[in-house]
Amino acid sequence: MDSAKTATRALLLLLGLCVCSTSGLQQSAPRIRLSFKELLDTRAVRPFSFSFNTSDYRILLMDQDQGRLYLGSREYLVALDMHNVNKEPLIIHWPTSDKRRGECRMTGKGGQGECANFVRMIEPWNRTHLYTCGTGAYQPICTFINRGWKAEDYVFRLVPGFTESGKGKCSYDPSQENIAALIDGNLYAGVHVDFMGTDAALFRTMGGRTTVRTEQYDSKWLNEPVFIQIQQIPDSAERNDDKLYFFFREKSLDAGGGASPSVLARVGRVCLNDEGGQKSLVNRWTTFLKARLVCSVIGDDGVETLFDELRDVFIQTTQDERNPVVYALFITAGSVFKGSAVCVYSMADIRNVFNGPFSHKHGHNYQWTAYTGKIPYPRPGTCPGGTFTPGIRTSKDFSDEAVNFMRAHPLMYHPVYPIHRRPLVVRTGVDYRFTALVVDQVDAVDARYEVLFLGTDRGTVQKVIVLPKDPSTMEELTLEEVEVFRTRAAVKTMRISSKRQQLYVSSEAGLTQVSLHRCGVYGRACSDCCLARDPYCAWDGESCSAFTPATKRRSRRQDVKHGDPLRQCRGFNAKVENRLRETVQFGVEGSSTFLECQPRSPQATVKWLYQREGRRKALNRDREYLKTPHGILLKSLSQSDAGLYHCLATENNFKHTVARVLLRILDRDIVLALTSPDNDPMTSNSPPTGRGRQHDPKQQRVPPTPPFTDTLSQPEIRLIHQYCQSYWEQLRHKQQQPKRTSRRHTESQEQEPKRTSRRHTESQEQEPKRISRRHTENQETQGG
Ligand SMILES: *[C@@H]1O[C@H](CO)[C@@H](O)[C@H](O)[C@H]1NC(C)=O
Ligand SMILES: *[C@@H]1O[C@H](CO)[C@@H](O)[C@H](O)[C@H]1NC(C)=O
Repeated sequence: MDSAKTATRALLLLLGLCVCSTSGLQQSAPRIRLSFKELLDTRAVRPFSFSFNTSDYRILLMDQDQGRLYLGSREYLVALDMHNVNKEPLIIHWPTSDKRRGECRMTGKGGQGECANFVRMIEPWNRTHLYTCGTGAYQPICTFINRGWKAEDYVFRLVPGFTESGKGKCSYDPSQENIAALIDGNLYAGVHVDFMGTDAALFRTMGGRTTVRTEQYDSKWLNEPVFIQIQQIPDSAERNDDKLYFFFREKSLDAGGGASPSVLARVGRVCLNDEGGQKSLVNRWTTFLKARLVCSVIGDDGVETLFDELRDVFIQTTQDERNPVVYALFITAGSVFKGSAVCVYSMADIRNVFNGPFSHKHGHNYQWTAYTGKIPYPRPGTCPGGTFTPGIRTSKDFSDEAVNFMRAHPLMYHPVYPIHRRPLVVRTGVDYRFTALVVDQVDAVDARYEVLFLGTDRGTVQKVIVLPKDPSTMEELTLEEVEVFRTRAAVKTMRISSKRQQLYVSSEAGLTQVSLHRCGVYGRACSDCCLARDPYCAWDGESCSAFTPATKRRSRRQDVKHGDPLRQCRGFNAKVENRLRETVQFGVEGSSTFLECQPRSPQATVKWLYQREGRRKALNRDREYLKTPHGILLKSLSQSDAGLYHCLATENNFKHTVARVLLRILDRDIVLALTSPDNDPMTSNSPPTGRGRQHDPKQQRVPPTPPFTDTLSQPEIRLIHQYCQSYWEQLRHKQQQPKRTSRRHTESQEQEPKRTSRRHTESQEQEPKRISRRHTENQETQGG
């Protein structure tokens, strides 16, 4: 029964996933993909290169004023220069004492190296000091760090002789996530408070306010939560209304019931000035509320795919501090399918849900319903002394009725739906998941764009923009995917500095600083730059380079919205086409040859044109050829195949010539004559050792037919190159004692030798490194 049910659900889910990937939102393959080595070649990246005995790198704090990035890891604290993470990093070793390590092991822990001090929190304390906490080998500890008045002081050290308990501030178990915010000297933390890791709470400690926490062991409040993000967001101009919002996921109370998901994403909030109750809920929050965050897609068949496992939250500030935009990253919960999605929520929608009905368990079968009875005053969730409760001084003055209602009804009935009721980004049917996200706002020539940087569990970062395609569909563009670590590891934490145009990415094993853009990668033509549709990049008349609104707008060509080079690159396109070098290639009669053409973008479609005596026409259908992603293979060549071949790429309705190849056909008889053993100019010229010609010349009488693979270009070209070499060699001899030189041969002898050999050298040695070469030439240096 149960397994049948599960199978049906799995099938439905599968169908849902298949459908959703084709409807509403269009997914796209990255236009540019760079390996770690290729990324290094762009010089727009800097891996943190100091190694010491640590792991579990986390970026815990970014200090824009001092230009420092603070990392925590196993038994270390690191302060980095945001301009250059490798410039004199300041490192503190904060180990567990041998005594504590021993005690930890005595309790049976430590099998996975957990009996160490994992640094999990760094918060600004005052102008000169930071407050930090670590797991302390299952005995959380906290202390102050002196970081001096300014970065130039190069001060970074623990305050000597001072440590205090980290209980309620940091988790015991390094596998349990915690969140914290230090506000006016009070530390608000989402943590597991006990050694066993079963008592999770939102805890307030330190500072002048009373210690307050969530109700203990009450699964209606928190049910095995995993804390993700915490931030103070004011609700009105009245400071007494200030609230703390926190994001987490938790086990569903109805889990195991079949239809409902096992994990739910939540947004919760409390008032900063909550002092707990007077008679009940003493030292407990009296303003705690939570609501569900929904992120799902509905396929054409009506089947819904839910993304419930909240993984990361990025809060994008706006002009209005009360209304930041909330970007949340989800994955499909516990599913065999790897699905990820980004949903965006507005504070207005979140507040509306908190102002709406409360959830209530009702009836004999305990269904969740909207509470319709009388709601006490002040309405639960309202802060004391706020806009609507000016007469109430403190939460201790709340009526018993209000406090008891809150205790039983912490959950809102309505969930929060994302803006437009659908995800901004969806990834299904791929073999990776997103693990972290940050968002940047970029002012381009035509508009402001939101650019998403999404870390994956395969150690890459994708740069994604989403544009309206028509009123009902959005187009998701993955501008690039770059591999950010030397050793592949999942992205753990990410931070972004728009000011410095840098992204910082950490993993279990390291940290990398990456520039937000490397415009030179897109190519050397205006059309390439335009088709890339990267809001950070524009064509400046000479190259594709970083765009800043400060630079003169007129002279910059950019079209993120449409990516239309016809409009943007008028005048530049012709130039590029003219600059495109015509390459000469030789084929041998009866043999086959490979014409290479690889457009930069996977989104481009390729068409070949053939030109002879001025007229261009589509490559004859009945002409035998094989199309591969790297070009075409022409089989059994004849003299009639000679001519000019144009490779045309079409992307986003823009057609441009990517390659022009002049094919010349060598007379089969001559080639055979040249390569026959008794008339081989190579053997007669080469030293007796026969360097470079190890094979039996007899086997060369018939030009070999290359195998049908895309990788054949190398040996094929080398072979033809050999033929040509010997051919010209022979011609030179013939010229000295002219005999049977035809006009065709003279022609080739005059210009081709140099060009051909250059091309062949290139294709053999430099083609595989094409992207890196381009970068070096463009000198796209970031933070260099
Ligand atoms: C690295 O640190 C771990 C845990 O602190 C320790 O067990 C290990 O011996 C250290 N390794 C080296 C090479 O020092
Ligand atoms: C910052 O706090 C630390 C620790 O409480 C204290 O020693 C230091 O004097 C303070 N510095 C300033 C500038 O207030």
